Amino acid sequence: MLEANYLVIGSGVAGLTYSVKIAERFPDRKVIIVTKDREDESNTKYAQGGMAVVLNKEEDSFKKHIEDTLVAGDGLCNEDVVKMVVKEGPQRLKELIEWGANFDEDAEGNLDLGKEGGHSEYRIVHHKDLTGAEVQRTLIKRVNQLPNITLLAHHFAIDLVTNHHIKGGDEDELVCYGAYVLNERSGDIFTIKANTTLLASGGIGCVYGHTTNPIIATGDGVAMAYRAKARIKDMEFVQFHPTALYQRKGESAFLISEAVRGFGAYLRNRKGKRFMPDYDDRAELASRDIVSQSIDAEMKKAGDSHVFLDCTHLDMEGFKAHFPTIYNKCLSFHINVEKDWIPVVPASHYLCGGIAVDENGKTTVENLFACGECSRTGLHGANRLASNSLLEALVYAHNIFRYLSENDYEKPDVVIPEWNDEGTTIPEEHILIRHSLKSLQALMRNYVGIVRSNKRLKRAIKHLDLIYTEVEDLYRESKITASLCELRNMINIAHLIIGQSLERKENKGGYFNKDNVKK
Ligand code: FAD
Ligand code: SIN
Repeated sequence: MLEANYLVIGSGVAGLTYSVKIAERFPDRKVIIVTKDREDESNTKYAQGGMAVVLNKEEDSFKKHIEDTLVAGDGLCNEDVVKMVVKEGPQRLKELIEWGANFDEDAEGNLDLGKEGGHSEYRIVHHKDLTGAEVQRTLIKRVNQLPNITLLAHHFAIDLVTNHHIKGGDEDELVCYGAYVLNERSGDIFTIKANTTLLASGGIGCVYGHTTNPIIATGDGVAMAYRAKARIKDMEFVQFHPTALYQRKGESAFLISEAVRGFGAYLRNRKGKRFMPDYDDRAELASRDIVSQSIDAEMKKAGDSHVFLDCTHLDMEGFKAHFPTIYNKCLSFHINVEKDWIPVVPASHYLCGGIAVDENGKTTVENLFACGECSRTGLHGANRLASNSLLEALVYAHNIFRYLSENDYEKPDVVIPEWNDEGTTIPEEHILIRHSLKSLQALMRNYVGIVRSNKRLKRAIKHLDLIYTEVEDLYRESKITASLCELRNMINIAHLIIGQSLERKENKGGYFNKDNVKK
């Protein structure tokens, strides 16, 4: 068993920022970060467009960014949260720059500001099309300089330890004492006991298979919190990014940043028609929910598998300078952006809902906090405004740090039983895990996609029940592996998305059910 003052699950922007701050503030206290893959593998690493921050006060204002966020959220944002996050933006960015992050500058030496869908002004701070990688690099470097942080890579958090696990514990009292963790290299399972635990475990994109997210995005934190009976909200609001590179084979979808549309690219259907002006006055720069739903409608009308992003009229030198990764990735698929249209299709991208938290990142379980994409703060409402996610993670990491600097949490006075895997065996038919995963992803794509209906959702529940029973049996009988836990977690996530979709009777933002009343 290990012990820490602060346990952190996840090494993306949320977990790393919080860890740096709390470790610097309390050099004599111990922070443990567990992360299931390499230390730098996360959704954060792949963020392209950048971070929305109001810097140019002549043209932009907090009021405009607040308004854009509220409009994108379609009436379901928490306005106080939106105001707080937007106003904190410049300070949190300043801190990141002081820690060594580099962002692109214009000819006058000011930060170069980009534009994306739903933004009325230029306010996206970026590092070419590799913003997330720059943020991740900066934070990992900082973490490695702090001796009171232990970062355990290839360590998988299986479950939170709660009263439910403690002998004689009152199961109705919701308290977290740490987590059970699997060392993926040795196969050992051990306990980390902690005064407080932060879930910073990121998104859920892999539940859909076709996603812009890397393979780590399996919703583990949300599923663990759900099993610990924490409040989970707004799971029906899965955001589909309008423009993932269309590939005939393969599932993980390379993102063509929204900033490319901000740079002036057009969406065209197979006949070459620029269709977005028919759907919204803001055309290609409408918010993501609208652009994805419009693409879906165009594809269904024509029976096509994708539409196109046309960059051929753009200043190519500028394009290559801003988007070198996208330019080269397209070339590797024999798409020359200078003369070819890029085939694109929407793909699951971001979870707007998640573990419900207050302004200090507190969940409804004692000693348990959540931050970043796994949390539901009220900032995004029914649809996240582009580039508000890195911002949200930085602001909430700071809020949680500030709260814990002012409020001490005692070491838990409980005896945590060891993980019990008596009677389990190494699964012989590992292929069953893969089959169940494929079935799950197919049902989410086919029945719980951009456009839903009650009939599809009910059919999804039926299919899911079958997969659930098979996987629970496997879980009970088998020695734990990360892939089995991930599958089980994704089933929990699918259950939450479908269940909360059926509860929503009005279409809002990214949620569209054909059987509901129009917005
Ligand atoms: P992540 O960065 O995903 O980190 C989660 C961490 O938790 C990972 O280290 C993971 O390995 C670990 N983890 C998960 N489960 C476990 C477990 N069971 N045990 C141990 N560790 C675990 N947002 C913007 O604001 N601007 C953008 O330009 C932008 N572009 C994007 C482009 C792409 C392709 C993608 C996928 C997302 C983009 N986003 C963008 C969204 C944004 O990147 C993410 O929402 C944000 O980075 C999430 O940060 P996080 O720290 O919450 O989670
Ligand atoms: C993008 O670059 O299009 C992604 C931005 C985001 O998800 O906020």
